[in-house]
Amino acid sequence: MEGVIDGDTRALLSEDGALDWCVTEFVRVVDARLPPRVFLRHCPELATAGSAGPITPSATPVTLQLLGSDPRGLAANAEQAISQGVTRLDLNFGCPAKTVNRHDGGASLLRTPERVYTVVGAVAEVSQRHGVSVNAKLRLGFDDKQLALACAQAAEAGGAEELVVHARTRREGYRPPAHWEWIARIRAGVRVPVVANGDIWSLEDYWKARTLSGCRDVMLGRGMLADPWLARRIRHWLETGGERLSPTPWSARSDMLIRYADAKRDAGMAEKVIVSLLKQWLNIMRGRDSEAAARFTALRRETALAPFVAGLSDLGSSSDSTSSGTAAHASSTLAG
Ligand SMILES: Cc1cc2nc3c(=O)[nH]c(=O)nc-3n(C[C@H](O)[C@H](O)[C@H](O)COP(=O)(O)O)c2cc1C
Repeated sequence: MEGVIDGDTRALLSEDGALDWCVTEFVRVVDARLPPRVFLRHCPELATAGSAGPITPSATPVTLQLLGSDPRGLAANAEQAISQGVTRLDLNFGCPAKTVNRHDGGASLLRTPERVYTVVGAVAEVSQRHGVSVNAKLRLGFDDKQLALACAQAAEAGGAEELVVHARTRREGYRPPAHWEWIARIRAGVRVPVVANGDIWSLEDYWKARTLSGCRDVMLGRGMLADPWLARRIRHWLETGGERLSPTPWSARSDMLIRYADAKRDAGMAEKVIVSLLKQWLNIMRGRDSEAAARFTALRRETALAPFVAGLSDLGSSSDSTSSGTAAHASSTLAG
């Protein structure tokens, strides 16, 4: 997730081993081949990648995501990424940002399935030559859902080995509800595995998304930031045949936020920037957790790191609150 999930976030969120794989933020491709440092910045795990490709410190595989509309540029950059050790590529057909769509990237390609086919085909041609898999991340459409299946079929025909479907159109943005039942229509029309994505915040959401989409696997986005134990919760529920983990206490959430701040400080990031990243994460947590909401309100004007961190960890306010967390599924993936 652009501006939200980076190498440090991936390391923290994957450390309990419950995620099957993670995705980087998108690398935006215009036409020219990008220098190696761009790929390294988006995927610092490449610095230590072995034959298994980039992995987090807990050995969770990391997929690199590309975004663009120029088949030759994308193919050249896929080649570059592979030469640096990438073993799984993902193509973004979901980004709703106006700047990206104006330049014909992300969700804007969903207006023309033929272009989805061409873009995936160009990257798959390179990937297959190197034994690297390519996936596509799709929304249900741009303005409406008329081309949802056609775009999924185009991605499959182009060579995508797996499709992740965010169950909304670009016009629907991030507004609930996610239309998981539409993913079932896509599944019925393609042969490759389909992963359901969108609005999975809890075990109940997980199960509902699985039931309505028919997908075995889901991708977790904001829900994983709101409850960093969501994937573990799901996996435990599945592995034990229905046993629920207790809700995530605030102390565990604040510990993760503070360790994130520590990692950023160790990397030399400016304190103000660290505070704004922490606020962004806390902002996602607060919708699902009353303690996070209280801390967010108390700290929203704070710009200095030390008092911000103290405000996260102080034990003076409410007790360990919890999210409404619960979730279920066979494998989960962290959105880029
Ligand atoms: C701030 C933000 C940044 C995102 N960046 C990306 C991205 O770089 N690539 C991508 O495929 N999806 C991106 N997404 C979309 C998410 O991966 C996901 O599809 C969407 O948020 C729905 O899932 P969720 O409800 O579980 O968050 C982003 C979403 C948000 C909110």
